[in-house]
Amino acid sequence: MSDDATIKDQVRERYSRIARQTLAGGDAGCCGAGACCGEGPIALAPVHQLGYDEAQVAALPEGAVAASLGCGNPTALIDLHPGQTVLDLGSGGGIDVLLSARRVGPTGRAIGLDMTDEMLALARANAAAAGATNVEFLKGEMEAIPLPDASVDVVISNCVVNLSPDKDAVLREARRVLKPGGRFAISDIVVQGGAVPPDLQADMMSWTGCVAGALEEGEYRAKLHAAGFTDPEIVVTAEGSDLPGGGDTDARLRAAGVRVVSAFVRATKPTP
Ligand SMILES: C[S@@+](CC[C@H](N)C(=O)[O-])C[C@H]1O[C@@H](n2cnc3c(N)ncnc32)[C@H](O)[C@@H]1O
Repeated sequence: MSDDATIKDQVRERYSRIARQTLAGGDAGCCGAGACCGEGPIALAPVHQLGYDEAQVAALPEGAVAASLGCGNPTALIDLHPGQTVLDLGSGGGIDVLLSARRVGPTGRAIGLDMTDEMLALARANAAAAGATNVEFLKGEMEAIPLPDASVDVVISNCVVNLSPDKDAVLREARRVLKPGGRFAISDIVVQGGAVPPDLQADMMSWTGCVAGALEEGEYRAKLHAAGFTDPEIVVTAEGSDLPGGGDTDARLRAAGVRVVSAFVRATKPTP
């Protein structure tokens, strides 16, 4: 596998290019069908097929919807209450931050964290178009979250944790910033039936396209436990032919007996 810095550089390069294209008026889904993790190897469904409520999506600025690159709707996962603070890891164009901001209301706060300048610019433009005042977008890496301990009620994320070369650090940091009893509730790509084969793990297009870095579901649960979470839960939301655009990568995974799925991943930070 390539080293961590190379993976991060490639991920940043890919998503900055997608953000620039979107800011210039294109669709984030360069694969043509709408939202996806990029232009290959995995292309996911248009936003209305990812579990977003039609009315919720209709109320968002067009730019925020066009910028969606997720693989689910993490905001459908969790009860959000007025006054809460929500953190979105790898917030991209900001769709889930804007949806969360509505639910936590003016006394709450929705924070997006992203390491890519162009994505932050896109998200801030979308927040301005939405007239959202209880949102902020921070530059930083989810392996070293620039927030204090126990400052967040809920951590969400949409198709991003798989992109990290250091998932243990991401999960440790998510637990650190959560308040006791806080919830980790994300959408992510997960694999079943075995790990991603080593040749695919070394394929940067596959890594930045949200496949090569995906954890096997048992390993995901083990890492959540090791990071200090309780009650880890993984629920498949789309699988097999529901994940269009897998192409050659999909065929290679199938040959290895590995299935790539989109899933809700949830866990709780225990109270002392
Ligand atoms: C597949 S896109 C998903 C964007 C957004 N969550 C959505 O649903 O539209 C991945 C995003 O995560 C960001 N990202 C990837 N790795 C990151 C990291 N280690 N720390 C912070 N942001 C990261 C990228 O810059 C990009 O904006």
